[in-house]
Amino acid sequence: MNKESILSRDTVTMDEATKELVIIDQTRLPGETVMLSLSSAEDIYEAIYKLRVRGAPAIGVAAAIGIYCVISRLEDMPRADFDAEFARIKDYLVSSRPTAVNLSWALERMHNVVKKSDCTTAELKELLRAEALKIRDEDIAVCRAIGENGLTLIKDGDGILTHCNAGQLATTRYGTALAPIHLGREQGMNFRVFTDETRPLLQGARLSAYEMVADGVDTTLICDNMASSVMKKGWVQAVFVGCDRVAANGDTANKIGTSGVAILAKHYGIPFYVCAPMSTIDMDCPTGDEIEIELRPDHEVTEMWYEKRMAPEGVKVYNPAFDVTDKELITAFVTEKGIVRAPFAEGFKKLFGEERA
Ligand code: MRU
Repeated sequence: MNKESILSRDTVTMDEATKELVIIDQTRLPGETVMLSLSSAEDIYEAIYKLRVRGAPAIGVAAAIGIYCVISRLEDMPRADFDAEFARIKDYLVSSRPTAVNLSWALERMHNVVKKSDCTTAELKELLRAEALKIRDEDIAVCRAIGENGLTLIKDGDGILTHCNAGQLATTRYGTALAPIHLGREQGMNFRVFTDETRPLLQGARLSAYEMVADGVDTTLICDNMASSVMKKGWVQAVFVGCDRVAANGDTANKIGTSGVAILAKHYGIPFYVCAPMSTIDMDCPTGDEIEIELRPDHEVTEMWYEKRMAPEGVKVYNPAFDVTDKELITAFVTEKGIVRAPFAEGFKKLFGEERA
């Protein structure tokens, strides 16, 4: 494996010539690097639902580019019919995964272009192309800024624990929680990264470990139930995780298991940082109680990754994809605009106020 194989290509792109959404099929990593070119709404829905493309920012960018690729193929039709078709495809794609707000955020941005324009469908397609590429380019800039801000919180040689994959594979480039590590590497810094395997879909073992090793980082894979042990040994100086939806009060939905890591970090006095693009902060969602948590199929727990089924037929399975970390457990949010400490509600309001000013 070399750095070229993964870090030199964007996770989500558009093939301008064929007008296709191009993604790395993350279900095949780390064994195979398979690129997929998608142009139908059904294939894009399937890719998001099956986690071929995953991670909140990457899902948002994929949906924006994807809906452009779908509508760019529509035959010429009256503007009203075009707008209705756009809304139908948007609602369909939004329903592919409920928790990551970036999906509806990106598709809403695309829909606003439709709502605000009074032009031919040909002109509108061009406006939508430009907006999709803008969302992608902003994602790259946002992640780089999060990396720079996060890097101020750690020093050379630190041990960092991460859960799931909030790295380059979860965004277009750099990642969020892993961006400080990638940027630190660019500056010749070394970190010791502990990556939770992240049951049941193994985003930590398959993706974060792959991404970190590809960047030459000293990486140790642990099972999810080993985090307390490595923290107790004093090997972890900071926890960095991503997020799928941050409520206005700071409660944060992220990959299942994140809240347990936060509780452990508090117990051991380790700072717990959530790296959050502002697009993942949902000011319309008051608290974590209002965040819809995606439930996934039983077979991900009973069979997936095993040679044969590991649980008896007839057993009930509870498989939530995310949990909510209470705001009291979070040391700070690392956003592209800066670091936000408690009280988070005021800090977020200030950030969004500055953005509008
Ligand atoms: O189910 P996934 O793999 O899409 O879950 C991803 C996460 O939980 C990430 O931590 C989150 O989306 C942030 S990615 C920058």
